[in-house]
Amino acid sequence: MRIIGTGSQLPKKLVTNDQLAHFIDTSDEWIRERTGIEQRHVMTNETLEDLAIAAAKNAMDDAGVLSTQLDYIICSNMVNEYVVPSMASIVGGHIGSQCPAYDLNAACTGFLYALDMADVLLKAGRAEYILIISAEEPSRIVDWNDRSTCVLFGDGAAAVVVTKGNSLRSIKVSSKSDKSVLYYRRPLEPTPFIIRDKNTGPLCMNGKEVFKSAVSSSLRDMQYVLDKAEITKDDVTYYVLHQANLRIIDFIRSHFEAKQEQIPINVNKYGNTSSASIPLLLDELNRDGKLRKGDILVLSAFGAGFTSAACVIEWNKSAN
Ligand code: UT7
Repeated sequence: MRIIGTGSQLPKKLVTNDQLAHFIDTSDEWIRERTGIEQRHVMTNETLEDLAIAAAKNAMDDAGVLSTQLDYIICSNMVNEYVVPSMASIVGGHIGSQCPAYDLNAACTGFLYALDMADVLLKAGRAEYILIISAEEPSRIVDWNDRSTCVLFGDGAAAVVVTKGNSLRSIKVSSKSDKSVLYYRRPLEPTPFIIRDKNTGPLCMNGKEVFKSAVSSSLRDMQYVLDKAEITKDDVTYYVLHQANLRIIDFIRSHFEAKQEQIPINVNKYGNTSSASIPLLLDELNRDGKLRKGDILVLSAFGAGFTSAACVIEWNKSAN
């Protein structure tokens, strides 16, 4: 597998920490110190499909691939206004593609799960070009009166186009089921036969538990993929990490003794955009001309589930 194009799109509305402090009991100081977040983009009149379509088009333009050339569209998404049809098939309709399209939900780890699926499809000879989109609107599932969750997240969409190649040097995806530390239970329609209590509500999170799991799974997964790719931390150009919290990122940085410039960040600008965070960062690096052929990238993410994943990519956007 090889990434040949990237794209992204954010909602227009930008909300700073100070603006949040107008309606919840928080402060810019607390949010910056505990998370590194300064602001986030949130949905207003846009829909998630608007963002997903724009990100997909940007990635296809960057790749020079037409919608008719796509063999699959995979969209990682936790939640959006539609349960059916899938976000992937909604995007497919807009861009004029008729290839198979499906969503997958691995929470914040979804982009790496989608890369893994795409790699399998390419290796099986089932595809030449695959569009992967990560589109997320966590602002729609948090309780905006709960300061321990609503300050953390932001909305956004990002996409990549992948084709056959040898860029993916190693990948590990995993999950360890625990539905008590981070969950969102949405309401379903009533029926005459349901007798149990409704137990739905906004996103619930035990931040400290997620923090501990995130650090341990990231370190474990990243070491595994480095070993599997038969390289060491000295070979790594960039660590492209899930942007949830600067303190988690700092833990990883100090464990791998990485230099600050090896750890690009954008959590300060966008907050935690769930599975969109890694492709958003990749798109920024790509468009800023920071990625060179042969650069070694270690990607790592964690999320509700509890899911986690990491991979090593040798950047090789143009075949030659
Ligand atoms: O993609 C996966 C998504 N989730 C994550 O990555 C979350 C990982 N966890 C974290 O990032 C951190 O645990 C948090 C940032 C969520 C919280 O940081 P913490 O250092 O674990 O703080 P805490 O939950 O222990 O709260 C400390 C204090 C509490 O007050 P008391 O009980 O000590 O009086 C909270 O009520 O900070 C309070 N607090 C706040 N204060 C101001 C919690 N949220 C806020 C807030 N503003 N927004």
